[in-house]
Amino acid sequence: MKLTIARLGHRGDGIAEGFYAPGTLPGEEVEGEPQGDTLTDIRILTPSAARVKPPCPHARTCGGCLMQHASDATVAEWKTGIVRGALDGQGLSAEVRPILTSPPRSRRRATLAARRTKGGILMGFHTRASDSITPVPNCHLLHPDLIAAFPALEALVKLGGSRTVEMTLAVTRTLTGPDVVVTNAKPADAELQLDLARLVESFGMSRLTWNGEIVAQRTPPIIKLGPTRVTLPPAAFLQATEEGEAALLTLVREAVGPAKKIIDLFSGLGTFALPLAQQAEVHAVENDVALLTALDKGFRQGEGLKRVTNDIRDLYRRPLEPDEFKGIDAVVIDPPRAGAEAQCHTLAQSKVARIAMVSCNPITFARDAKILIAGGYTLQWVQPVDQFRWSNHVELAALFTL
Ligand SMILES: C[S@@+](CC[C@H](N)C(=O)[O-])C[C@H]1O[C@@H](n2cnc3c(N)ncnc32)[C@H](O)[C@@H]1O
Repeated sequence: MKLTIARLGHRGDGIAEGFYAPGTLPGEEVEGEPQGDTLTDIRILTPSAARVKPPCPHARTCGGCLMQHASDATVAEWKTGIVRGALDGQGLSAEVRPILTSPPRSRRRATLAARRTKGGILMGFHTRASDSITPVPNCHLLHPDLIAAFPALEALVKLGGSRTVEMTLAVTRTLTGPDVVVTNAKPADAELQLDLARLVESFGMSRLTWNGEIVAQRTPPIIKLGPTRVTLPPAAFLQATEEGEAALLTLVREAVGPAKKIIDLFSGLGTFALPLAQQAEVHAVENDVALLTALDKGFRQGEGLKRVTNDIRDLYRRPLEPDEFKGIDAVVIDPPRAGAEAQCHTLAQSKVARIAMVSCNPITFARDAKILIAGGYTLQWVQPVDQFRWSNHVELAALFTL
């Protein structure tokens, strides 16, 4: 069957006449075998001018990246289109600024899969549409410091991996060395614990968490947030790239303007709250106790910061009420993928002059934006931000004013 690809779908597949054609681009004439709604055994008859040679040598097999065959401009246009499409879907219009994409080799956290094999070990990302594992020693996504941690991770797999159960290794780059969280590993008996502690020392890891327990810490895993430093709780949420975090912070700063009193909702460990405390008193709200404890410690260690208070609260079950925003100049809100529907309903009834919203899901963002707009807010601009280049994820920051 021959088809001409009309457009890219949300998962990055080319779409033509009701068929998904993975790895194809708009305008390409392709030939393949239909299987259900998918074209398989695809041959590209007429390649698009937007087609590029994947920069990463693992791109053909690795399932980590979807869009390495497309030029940066094509991916940027497609992701911006996803944001525009979500706004259109709710009947909203706003200035959509040009996307800010993190550079290659900038991801500071990654989760790798691993197991032992007859001859040694296998560690990497899952192979495209499969449970098998592709080693990724030359990955173009990960920060070089994460690649440099591979020998340490491989040594952990040798010690604690099995041939039947897949182990996962989540590694985060910190100022004090890689922070590693291993799950599905062999239980750490006394002997294994000693071996693991030796590995942490010899490979310069900051900390090792093994099946949910911290088994070794050479030094606390520390990251810099604005004027202060924060110790990462194990498996803590952290923006995926430093460049993306800096871009989001610049946008949030622009959005809150000269605010002197700010509430930061879904604050995490203070990515926005702590730097904003250089200009304003900040009240941070979040439901993860470990993140708020880290934020509070970071605040106490920072110099020249205005007061930062915090509240442990489930914002889905108990969103802040409209009168809790009295006297507040600006709100920062950065919910998980599910968005912040309940919180936006009460925020829409508040008198807060400026709302900076950060979102990792354009669909729930647009739903929540519509709630704020119905309450009298104006959506001034939307800035797409891409920390997950070559994937189908896109994030954004936006400003609402009253
Ligand atoms: C996208 S992260 C943003 C964190 C922070 N703003 C940052 O940039 O590092 C979303 C945060 O919402 C928190 N969260 C998830 N569900 C929540 C809930 N029901 N109530 C309050 N916070 C929640 C998570 O713990 C996480 O820290």
